Amino acid sequence: MLTNIPQTLTDYTFIDLFSGIGGFHLALSSFGARCVFASEWDSYSAETYYQNFNLLPKGDITKINSEDIPKHSILCAGFPCQAFSVSGKQRGFEDTRGTLFFEIARIASYHKPEVLLLENVKNLISHNNGETMSTIHSVLTDLGYKVHYSVLNSSDYGLPQNRERVYIVAFNNEIDSQNFKFPEPIHRTISLNDVLEESPRNAKIVERNDIHIYKEVSTDVDMFGQKILYNRPIQIGIVNKGGQGERIYHPTGHTITLSAHGGGVGAKTGLYLINNSVRKLSPRECARVQGFPDSFQLHHLDSQSYKQFGNSVSVDVLQYIVMEIATVLHSQSLSKVTV
Ligand SMILES: C[S@@+](CC[C@H](N)C(=O)[O-])C[C@H]1O[C@@H](n2cnc3c(N)ncnc32)[C@H](O)[C@@H]1O
Repeated sequence: MLTNIPQTLTDYTFIDLFSGIGGFHLALSSFGARCVFASEWDSYSAETYYQNFNLLPKGDITKINSEDIPKHSILCAGFPCQAFSVSGKQRGFEDTRGTLFFEIARIASYHKPEVLLLENVKNLISHNNGETMSTIHSVLTDLGYKVHYSVLNSSDYGLPQNRERVYIVAFNNEIDSQNFKFPEPIHRTISLNDVLEESPRNAKIVERNDIHIYKEVSTDVDMFGQKILYNRPIQIGIVNKGGQGERIYHPTGHTITLSAHGGGVGAKTGLYLINNSVRKLSPRECARVQGFPDSFQLHHLDSQSYKQFGNSVSVDVLQYIVMEIATVLHSQSLSKVTV
């Protein structure tokens, strides 16, 4: 997580829908914005959220009336991806009824916040032959928003995790957002090695006789004396047949995408060859590769922590996006003053 961020959003409020453990909360509040409402129906995630932000998320968003949600300037949501009923191909608001995106549209339609900041899996773009994304686009456009979206990889924004996600930023048409752009990749040299705990007590070590390491990785410098930069996962071996959760990676590279589901001996984190042992990541290491600071309190159940970080959003990526949003909002208020 980036620190010492200019407090450019102290006049702004936000709501955190599908809040999980609060990745959006960390990113927005680092700019001085204030959270006025959160919703998360998983009690374990809500516990972690409360522990860290002293705000208890309300439950099922489908049961919360829009008028019971406080007024806010920014609506944040990392919502689950679902198919819409595109029966008549109207691609309107009603086509999304019964989905969680409908809840976002319903709340945005009532409150008309200045900005919507949404995150989803990369597949959202190709989902249902592009129909899902195009419905989202047209619903938000009909609600009076200018929609921007892009797929960004956490590996390109200072975190050692290969995680591609689609980010949607929609500005209320009252805001001149034509200068908005998604952040360019930053070229920071970081590897899993940089965020490892010295001797984690809760990172499962795999001891079996079907571990096969087939590749060596040079961890030093290239022919020009530069430290070699591997900014993607480097697979060096397998356990068993090398299926999902059975691949072994080198800590000089990045981690695979943390996941809330998925099985295999390296379930949810992948396996890494660290100090001559093959092991999973610890919950704290998962927090770090998602950009959560060490001051972030983890859930006391490791199984919940793994799930929570697999589901959460990469904080640094959001911070770079929010920086660009803040630039647009700030130039807006300057032009208001000068008119
Ligand atoms: C992809 S995760 C978002 C994680 C979050 N961005 C973070 O940083 O931790 C989606 C979350 O939506 C929650 N959720 C799903 N349906 C919900 C509903 N109807 N009401 C409230 N929360 C819901 C899930 O429990 C899950 O934690």
